[in-house]
Amino acid sequence: MTSPLRLGIAGLGTVGAGVIKIVQEHGALLAARSGREITISAVSARSRGKDRGVDLSDYSWEDDPVALAKRDDVDVFVELMGGEDGPAKAASEAAIAAGKHVITANKAMLAHHGQTLALAAEAKGVNLRFEAAVAGGIPVIKTLTEGLAANRITRIMGVMNGTCNYILTRMENAGLPYDEVFEEANQLGFLEADPNLDVGGIDAAHKLVLLSSIAFGTQVDFSGAQLEGIGLISIDDIMAAKDMGYRIKLLGLANMTGSGLEQTMQPCLVPYNSPLGQLEGGTNMVVIEGDAVGQIVLRGAGAGEGPTASAVMGDVMDIARGISLAVFGQPAKTLTPAKAAKSNTPSAYYIRLSLKDATGVMAKVTTALADAGVSIDRMRQKEHQDDAAPVLIVTHEVTPAAIEAALTAIKATGDLASTPIALKIVEV
Ligand code: HSE
Repeated sequence: MTSPLRLGIAGLGTVGAGVIKIVQEHGALLAARSGREITISAVSARSRGKDRGVDLSDYSWEDDPVALAKRDDVDVFVELMGGEDGPAKAASEAAIAAGKHVITANKAMLAHHGQTLALAAEAKGVNLRFEAAVAGGIPVIKTLTEGLAANRITRIMGVMNGTCNYILTRMENAGLPYDEVFEEANQLGFLEADPNLDVGGIDAAHKLVLLSSIAFGTQVDFSGAQLEGIGLISIDDIMAAKDMGYRIKLLGLANMTGSGLEQTMQPCLVPYNSPLGQLEGGTNMVVIEGDAVGQIVLRGAGAGEGPTASAVMGDVMDIARGISLAVFGQPAKTLTPAKAAKSNTPSAYYIRLSLKDATGVMAKVTTALADAGVSIDRMRQKEHQDDAAPVLIVTHEVTPAAIEAALTAIKATGDLASTPIALKIVEV
């Protein structure tokens, strides 16, 4: 058997502890499968004294993650600290410069600095792997870079933020308003330190742009993604969607069009009985469509100790086996700059309006829709509430630009009692 593969782990939160447990508990299995013993040389975290439920006594301690990254007895630097810049980036750069492989769960860092880090790693001849950064335990990076490597990828879709999926499904199942479920998620410790990363769609968009880069051979482009969170979704929207056979999901969509790369992360309606529509709680799902393979669906835990540590260790095992892959599936210097395109792929839309109760108001709305080229498929008016009539419309397929034009014209009538909502309906 060849020499052990020695890890240095920075960040001892839930995932770090999970990785240590796997190394400690599955030693024989890891060695049998990779042909090498996997060991941990040193660890680093903010607080040394904290009880993390794992025995750290065999490992050296470093206060400074950069020092850990450069240690002679570390072959692979495992970055589990998080954060777009700061220590995570400094230590990853230091590890690469010192000729160490890097494994990270840090989607924010890669969404913003993925191209630079990939170029540095590839120039140095080391691996930079990030399976744990996207959709927790689901091996989606491996699926795209390896299993589907021969496909032209046509579309990627996914629910990649478990917290948002928990909030939306809990609102529906318990009939509770957004604010109440948000607070519940907070109490349960589901929300990131900055909750806007979750509910603003940022965390999920970080993940989507990493998948896009692999799928479409483009440099990671977070600034080109169109983002909308779930904060405006009301329990009424959720119930109305259900009434019409749909469920609301914070859905990521990426596809390459003649005008460029469309990357959107926004609340969408999906058919209630589709795989995405059936997704409950904190679970993630990624749907990939390739020209040869057709559609495949990957489902699993998007966060948590075991699932995320499983993804980290999958990358460790590849390195132990001597498998070396370009960071984004092809050499970083061959990735083309992404040309971001505003989403203009036609789809059906769900529109919720709250109309003032006056003669001729509905006629003005339907005229505005017709003038913008928006054709109505189904429409319902619910009972008046406080002198306003909730109106729900499902359109035939139209472009986002046509919907925007119609909403601008409807707002200009002055007959709306509150801000209208328009959500894309995605048939999957
Ligand atoms: N906050 C994320 C989620 C987990 O809710 O899915 C880590 O990305």
